[in-house]
Amino acid sequence: MPRDNSGFRELRLDAISRRFGGAVALDRLSLAIARGEFIALLGPSGCGKSTALNCIAGLLALTGGAIWLDERRIDGLPPEERGFGMIFQNYALFPHMSVRRNIGFGLAMRGVGREEIRRRVDAALALIRLAEHADKLPGQLSGGQQQRVAIARAIVIEPPVILMDEPLSNLDAKLRIEMRSEIKRIHQELGRATVYVTHDQEEALSLADRIVVLKDGVTQQIGAPEELYARPANLDVALFMGYRNAIAARIEGVEGGQAVISIGQIRLRGTAAGHPGGGDATAAIRPEDFVLGPGPNAVRGRAETVEYCGRDYLVEFLTQDGHRLYARTETRVRPGDFVEWHVPPDRVLVYPSGK
Ligand SMILES: Nc1ncnc2c1ncn2[C@@H]1O[C@H](COP(=O)(O)OP(=O)(O)OP(=O)(O)O)[C@@H](O)[C@H]1O
Ligand SMILES: [Mg+2]
Repeated sequence: MPRDNSGFRELRLDAISRRFGGAVALDRLSLAIARGEFIALLGPSGCGKSTALNCIAGLLALTGGAIWLDERRIDGLPPEERGFGMIFQNYALFPHMSVRRNIGFGLAMRGVGREEIRRRVDAALALIRLAEHADKLPGQLSGGQQQRVAIARAIVIEPPVILMDEPLSNLDAKLRIEMRSEIKRIHQELGRATVYVTHDQEEALSLADRIVVLKDGVTQQIGAPEELYARPANLDVALFMGYRNAIAARIEGVEGGQAVISIGQIRLRGTAAGHPGGGDATAAIRPEDFVLGPGPNAVRGRAETVEYCGRDYLVEFLTQDGHRLYARTETRVRPGDFVEWHVPPDRVLVYPSGK
């Protein structure tokens, strides 16, 4: 299969979508997707991910804004004229057609000749590594294989943009990780711009060049995975990025560019995201950023429950004044142990309350 030779440079969206009754499903998503870029739309259920994707695909009309494919405005066009490849959660294969015919269907609809279809379907089958299953029906394949057929069907039309809506959510955990690598490999080989919807932060982090975090239809942050992981723009993004400890705190002051906060009797230095000032705040800390043992910026407590996670232990501990916190360590800790941790100030993110 060829890499992107469509001449496509950029898909620009400025999309607003209201649902029946005027409720906002997508407040305003403004984004330019470059050739070959992998974008993940990430957020909890109901945040507007599918709405955004369906607006791009043409399955849902915009109620405001516009979509441009290079110089062409396309938001008035029906899906087939936009020519994007779509992959859905439920595969949406034709059950009575062989794998080969499923993959070739879009080409046949476009009036491509038989020989050309055979050649392109063979190339797609080779890419998804299912050549030996070409004559089977979808029902004779595993979930992961069916999803690969759905991917082949979407890419065989050589679209400039591929749209995927939670393509892995019906697969078991092991297969999901395998298919994730598969999607990454196919994207690297073909270099097609991709918009990928997921509620799984790990999937978004591992696949995307840029992640768009949505909440209640509103864009919270757009950035590279590393950027979102290290510096979430607000508490909601932080919670989504695995900052499992969100602790009510007070900002006591600022010293040397760091926020000094108190959490009950605990005093910590942290990094203020937004305006430091004084007053109520929330401190966000990832379990893996706690370091076991004494050190500056210490937090102590008693281990309550300890979960073995293979690589390390997840320890739930209770501070003296009753804060329940989570930390990870590779050292064996037992329930009831007194544990002392410390945490680097740049890994304590302080958000003003209400942000
Ligand atoms: N057909 C519809 N009619 C009216 N409202 C809808 C319709 N479909 C979705 N909505 C609403 O629009 C909002 C966004 O829905 P959307 O399906 O885009 O969410 P999502 O992020 O894809 O969620 P999920 O992760 O559950 O698939 C939600 O508040 C939802 O209730
Ligand atoms: Mg959805």
